[in-house]
Amino acid sequence: MLLYFTGTGNSLAVARHIAAATGDSLLPLAEAAGTDLTAETTVGLVYPCYDFNTPPAVRDLVAQLQINPSAYVFIVVTCGAQTGNSVWTVRRILRRKGVRVAYCHKIRMPDNSATLFGRNPNDQLWKLEKYAPRLQRIVDDVRARRRANHFGAPGLAGWLTGIPAVERKLLGGFKPQVNPDLCIGCGLCVSTCPISNISISDLNHAAIGTACTACLGCLHVCPRQAIQVAGKPVPKERQYRHPESVKC
Ligand SMILES: Cc1cc2nc3c(=O)[nH]c(=O)nc-3n(C[C@H](O)[C@H](O)[C@H](O)COP(=O)(O)O)c2cc1C
Repeated sequence: MLLYFTGTGNSLAVARHIAAATGDSLLPLAEAAGTDLTAETTVGLVYPCYDFNTPPAVRDLVAQLQINPSAYVFIVVTCGAQTGNSVWTVRRILRRKGVRVAYCHKIRMPDNSATLFGRNPNDQLWKLEKYAPRLQRIVDDVRARRRANHFGAPGLAGWLTGIPAVERKLLGGFKPQVNPDLCIGCGLCVSTCPISNISISDLNHAAIGTACTACLGCLHVCPRQAIQVAGKPVPKERQYRHPESVKC
């Protein structure tokens, strides 16, 4: 069983590739939380790195998983460049549940947050061509049930961004809002949100709930650029989704 969390499709593309090669079934992490996975002999987790750490929603969902301690558990983190403590946080949560992670690796993908810094994630599509060999190695390792941790030791940056007040402040700066003058209530953001945190209001506008984890999926998928961060509209050409990704 392969569980994924994705905002813009990078982690989904990686998870799909691994699942196709290993024959494992694929499930959004939010759907797996709370379900009994103890019959699974393999559990893989694929999710992105946020602010040198694990997205809060991923942490919360992983904490709800019921995994057999004897299962082969592996993690693949997608990132723009630096994974910080994104794997260590999840390993710790699982360890408290008696589950040991056997294998973890990472893959660099276009940075979907670059849009907010005036850069264009679509200028980083070259990373997609480069990741194929790494992905193949991960598939080979997972198939052979290898044990390895390809992450450096936990670092100061990830430790700092993991402090709840710092994390709230940092991710608060990434959280999108809806411009009601532009929103047409099409609902694309509703179906993209990985934690079902967006609804369409009586006024036919998207309404983002309080559980937002700042994945930016809604911002990148909005056809009217009605979803903005800090009141700044996102130019259409800087909206990004992994090319293989369809609506998730
Ligand atoms: C709020 C936020 C914070 C991010 N922080 C980091 C980071 O610290 N390091 C990094 O390399 N990439 C960072 N990224 C980029 C994502 O990890 C990367 O684009 C990832 O592949 C997105 O996966 P997805 O398409 O499955 O959502 C961040 C993205 C977001 C939205």
